[in-house]
Amino acid sequence: MIEKAYLSDAQEILLVINISNREAYKKVIPKEYFREPVLSLTELLRDFERMSFYVYKSEGRSVGVAALEVEGEERGRIHWVYILPEYQRRGIGTALVRYVEQKAKEIGLKRLRLLTVGQADWAVSFYKKLGYALADEVERPWGFDVFMEKEL
Ligand SMILES: CC(C)(COP(=O)(O)OP(=O)(O)OC[C@H]1O[C@@H](n2cnc3c(N)ncnc32)[C@H](O)[C@@H]1OP(=O)(O)O)[C@@H](O)C(=O)NCCC(=O)NCCS
Repeated sequence: MIEKAYLSDAQEILLVINISNREAYKKVIPKEYFREPVLSLTELLRDFERMSFYVYKSEGRSVGVAALEVEGEERGRIHWVYILPEYQRRGIGTALVRYVEQKAKEIGLKRLRLLTVGQADWAVSFYKKLGYALADEVERPWGFDVFMEKEL
């Protein structure tokens, strides 16, 4: 049910990211800093040029997404891990991240990192369970973001 995404999937991916982001982050990021929608089609298409997107499909529709960017010879970065609210807590996020990790290993990457919101305790728990450790903090006007890393 996980497959590589193509430009024809862009509109569905955009919906998944924007719906899931609004639902999750509106409560932790103050109104003055909250961007809605978080991603435009133009930005997504730009990201398609530098990342590989993967989607989890249910009954032919994308309900979850994750993307892999190669940052260096051995290092990659995970972006845009978003699951539609009604599909969360069913193991789809875990399956997508494991899939991305497998793809990363296949192309010789040794390390993956990602950035998430420090106050998003659900996301930090999710990645910790997958073996990612807190590596660094980045100050933001609303608090801090955290880099999490894992050796593959
Ligand atoms: C974070 C997210 C990707 C997790 O995806 P998911 O498919 O719901 O996660 P899984 O079902 O694979 O959960 C695996 C484990 O992560 C942890 N976890 C997941 N969601 C959690 C939550 N809301 N609160 C606390 N822990 C959570 C749990 O340990 C869970 O295991 P359990 O269900 O056996 O307790 C999803 O909740 C989501 O899209 N959230 C909004 C966007 C977001 O924050 N993205 C990540 C950072 S950009």
